[in-house]
Amino acid sequence: MTGMEPILRMRGICKRFPGVQALQDAGLDVLPGEVHVLLGENGAGKSTLMKILCGQYTADSGVVTFAGEAIRPASPLEAESRGLVMIHQELNLVPGLSVAENVFLGHEPTHGGLIRSDAMRQGAQNLLAKLRCDVDPDTPVADLSVAEQQLVEIACALRQRARLLVMDEPTAALSDSEIEALFDVIHSLCGDGVPVIFISHRMKDIFAIGDRVTVMRDGRTVGTRDVKHTEVAELIQLMVGRTIAEQIPKREVRIGEVVLQVEGLVRAGVLSPVSLSVRSGEILGVAGLMGSGRTELARAIFGADVADGGTVRVTGRTMSGRNPGASIAAGLGFITEDRKRQGLMLQRSVGENITLTSLDDVARFGVLDLRAERERAEGLVERLKIHLASLDQETVSLSGGNQQKVVLARWLAARCRVLLFDEPTRGIDVAAKAEIYELIGELVGQGVAVVLITSEMPELLGLADRVAVMHEGALQGVLDRAEATQERVMQLALGESRS
Ligand SMILES: Nc1ncnc2c1ncn2[C@@H]1O[C@H](COP(=O)(O)OP(=O)(O)OP(=O)(O)O)[C@@H](O)[C@H]1O
Ligand SMILES: [Mg+2]
Repeated sequence: MTGMEPILRMRGICKRFPGVQALQDAGLDVLPGEVHVLLGENGAGKSTLMKILCGQYTADSGVVTFAGEAIRPASPLEAESRGLVMIHQELNLVPGLSVAENVFLGHEPTHGGLIRSDAMRQGAQNLLAKLRCDVDPDTPVADLSVAEQQLVEIACALRQRARLLVMDEPTAALSDSEIEALFDVIHSLCGDGVPVIFISHRMKDIFAIGDRVTVMRDGRTVGTRDVKHTEVAELIQLMVGRTIAEQIPKREVRIGEVVLQVEGLVRAGVLSPVSLSVRSGEILGVAGLMGSGRTELARAIFGADVADGGTVRVTGRTMSGRNPGASIAAGLGFITEDRKRQGLMLQRSVGENITLTSLDDVARFGVLDLRAERERAEGLVERLKIHLASLDQETVSLSGGNQQKVVLARWLAARCRVLLFDEPTRGIDVAAKAEIYELIGELVGQGVAVVLITSEMPELLGLADRVAVMHEGALQGVLDRAEATQERVMQLALGESRS
C-alpha cells in the first residue's frame, strides 16, 4: 500500500466541548480501499473525530481533505452527499418503524408519488441477506435483539453508495458468524476501492480485518502502524502509555450460603424450565451462543419479562411480585447489555443516573439528601475512573464506554446481594476491562453473588467458579471450574449433552 496517495487526510483537528478538550491536534490518513482501524481507550476521541468527518460536529480548527478537495460538512446529510457514511456506536434506529422502513428512512423508493413498500421490503431483505441476517423486513425494530438492530443499522449504511464508510464498534453486539459475514461485506467494499474506517476494542477484529491501525490517546493521534508489523502489546502500550497484564486475576474468595435460587423458571417458547443456584461470593458464568437464551434467562430472573412458571428466591425468600421494582427491593441487580434502551436515561445527568436505583437509600426523612447522593456518586466516578467534566453533564455526552461504566456505578450504588451482569465489558477498552474484573472480584469478596453472562471465553474461564451453558433456551449443563475448558463449553453450547 505504500506509495499510494491518501484519499482522506485529517490534520490538526481540535474540538472542545464544555469542560473537555475532546480532540487536540488529532489526525488521520486513509488510503483508497484499506481497512483503517481506529483504536484508543474509552473517551480517547475516536467517535468525535469520526463525527467531525461525517458532519455531525464541526471542528474548532483543523483541515479535512477528501478525494483531493478540502471539505467541512455542516451536517450528516452534506457529508452523505459526498459519500461519507457513518454507522454509529449507539444505535440510531426508529423503534416504532419496521426494519424495511428504517433501512429506507428518508429515501423510500416511490412510483407515481406512492411509496413502493414491496420494493422497500425486497431491498431491505437483499441487504440483510448479504449480512446473513434473515429477520423479516416487516418486523418492528423495537422487537429486534441488539445484534439484529446492529445488522439493520449496517444495512442502512450499505444502502447508501458510500465512498468511505465509518463503522463505530459494529461488532460489539455480534456473534462470530455475524462478524464473519460483516467482514466479507467489508472485503467486498474495499475490493471496490471504498475505504472503511473501523473502530473496535476487540483485538481479534483488528488483526482479522485491519490493514493499518491508528491509535488515539487523550484526544491526540499517537501513531499509525501496519497491522502486519505490529502486535497486541505494542498497541496497548500506545493506547494507554503503559503496559497492562492481559491476564484476568482469579481471586480466592470464601464461598458462602446460597443467595440466589431459581427453580423451574420457564417462559413458553423462550426458556425451558431452568433451575440453578448461586452462592454468596460465587461467580456463576453463563455461556452460550448468540440467541441461546442467556439474556432471556437473566431477564426472567430479574422479572423484566413475565415468566410462565417457576420461583426465584433471594436469601431464602421467595419473591412474589415478579417485577424489576420488587427485584431491586429484594437485593437483585441487573446490568443489561443494551444501555440505551434498558439501562440509561441519556438526557438526564450522570449523577441522576448513578443514584437512580438507590434513591430510597439516599432519601432521609422523606427528602432527598442531595449531598449524600452527590458524594456517593462522586466516589463511584472516581472508583470506576469514569471520564467526565461534571456530574451534571448529560449522560448522552459521555463516550460509549464511559456510559457503560455509569450503568455499573448505578448498580454498585444500589448495594445488591445478587448482581446479574449481561456482557459487562462490551465496548470497553482493555484498561477499563481490567478495572471491571477487579471490581467484580471486590464485589464477590464482599459476599455478593454474581451471575456473569459473557461471550468472551477468557473472561468466562478466568472469572467463573462454575459455568452454566445455555442452548436453545435450555440449560444444557453446568461445569465446575476444573472441568470448564473452552472445548467442553463449546460442546455444550452447540447442543451436545453432558458426557
Ligand atoms: N456531545 C458531547 N458533549 C460533551 N462532551 C462530549 C460530547 N461528545 C463527546 N464528549 C467527550 O469527548 C471525549 C471523547 O469522546 P468520544 O466519544 O470521542 O470517545 P471514544 O474514543 O469514542 O470513546 P469510546 O471508546 O468509549 O466510545 C470524552 O471525554 C467525552 O465525554
Ligand atoms: Mg466512541
